[in-house]
Amino acid sequence: MDIGPLLARDIEANRPYFNNPLRQQHESTMVNIIYVEPSGHRKTIDVEDGWSLMQGAIANGVDGIVGECGGSCACGTCHCYVEESRLGDIPPPEAAEEDMLDTVAAQLRPTSRLACQIKTTAGLAGLVVILPETQG
Ligand code: FES
Repeated sequence: MDIGPLLARDIEANRPYFNNPLRQQHESTMVNIIYVEPSGHRKTIDVEDGWSLMQGAIANGVDGIVGECGGSCACGTCHCYVEESRLGDIPPPEAAEEDMLDTVAAQLRPTSRLACQIKTTAGLAGLVVILPETQG
């Protein structure tokens, strides 16, 4: 059976959908992030551009992150360590994040950040995010 005409008909029928600017606006790219769980297990995950590192971890069942407040910088249970060589790729923490970092359960390091305050962008592709042994 020649499916050529069927495909052409289906493509034509769906053209309004594919050409819809709202759909095109909604489509996003994925950014490859490497999470290192407290056990040392590495999970490489494609996180939607614009999501926080916390959202990417929670949505993909990464161990070692809780995100109790849902990302409003109010719990400190999304504490992570980002790889030192990539710190310059990430906007520095705002005052609220710095205050919350003072309350986290695990040891603070110069690379400590709150995963809910870091938005995934194409510039973060390949970033390694290390989760601490405890979140509280
Ligand atoms: S999820 Fe609560 S501070 Fe990040």
